[in-house]
Amino acid sequence: MQLGSLARARGVRVLHLGEIDSTNEEARRLIESGKRGPLWIVASAQKNGRGRLGREWISPAGNLYTSFVYSGFSEARVAPELGFVAGVAAIRALRAVIGRDAFKLKWPNDLLFDGAKLGGILLECVNASTLPTAIIGVGVNVARAPEGLPYPARALSELGAIAPTAEVLFLHFSDALADTLDLWKGGEGFAAIRTEWLASASALGEDIRVALSSETLEGRFETIDATGRLVLETASGRRAIEAGDVLLGPRKTEGARA
Ligand code: BTN
Repeated sequence: MQLGSLARARGVRVLHLGEIDSTNEEARRLIESGKRGPLWIVASAQKNGRGRLGREWISPAGNLYTSFVYSGFSEARVAPELGFVAGVAAIRALRAVIGRDAFKLKWPNDLLFDGAKLGGILLECVNASTLPTAIIGVGVNVARAPEGLPYPARALSELGAIAPTAEVLFLHFSDALADTLDLWKGGEGFAAIRTEWLASASALGEDIRVALSSETLEGRFETIDATGRLVLETASGRRAIEAGDVLLGPRKTEGARA
């Protein structure tokens, strides 16, 4: 895996690993041993890949599994914005490599390809010796999409001859993230990131359901607010949601969550 030229110019480094438990876990261990980044950790496969909300991230060889260690911000409160920064970078990289407009973002941190899940972002923040340090974990189904998931999933290999390898995608993604981090400016530039994120948002302006820990809300997806919360217009008023799962498509008694 090689970094793009902008990432290299920004002093970013990359650590390549074979199969490990999880690149986010490796990032945490490195932070505990004093590393602060900017550093990419890339693994060929994961034995214990983790997704959002404590879920498993099935991680066979051939897909992209990577985590970025980053401390270029001063206040931990802005760290959640990095999920949007990374999402915008992922869309830029996918569109640059593939030249198709089939990619969307699903709040908060999912990558969609023709409406099905292509990848996801797991953002974690560690307060290491009072310096907040983020771990931006990104998984993309390049070679294959795991089967038997409770939601539709796809892989870039379905594009046939024009499908990129994980190496090519990583090269573009490392540069795209260096660029969107420049735009974000440690939090000062979140308005520009938000605008670009909304331009690629799935189901914006549509009726959606959002599963929270204790209930599922229904309403119109109005926007994301200045801190990245999903704004839902429900029959009983406007709600700003910090964490949850957006459920697309018709209501089902069981099954598909994209
Ligand atoms: C999600 O959509 O639930 C987020 C998935 C994030 C998966 C990536 S793969 C690289 C990094 N290491 C992990 O264990 N998880 C993230």
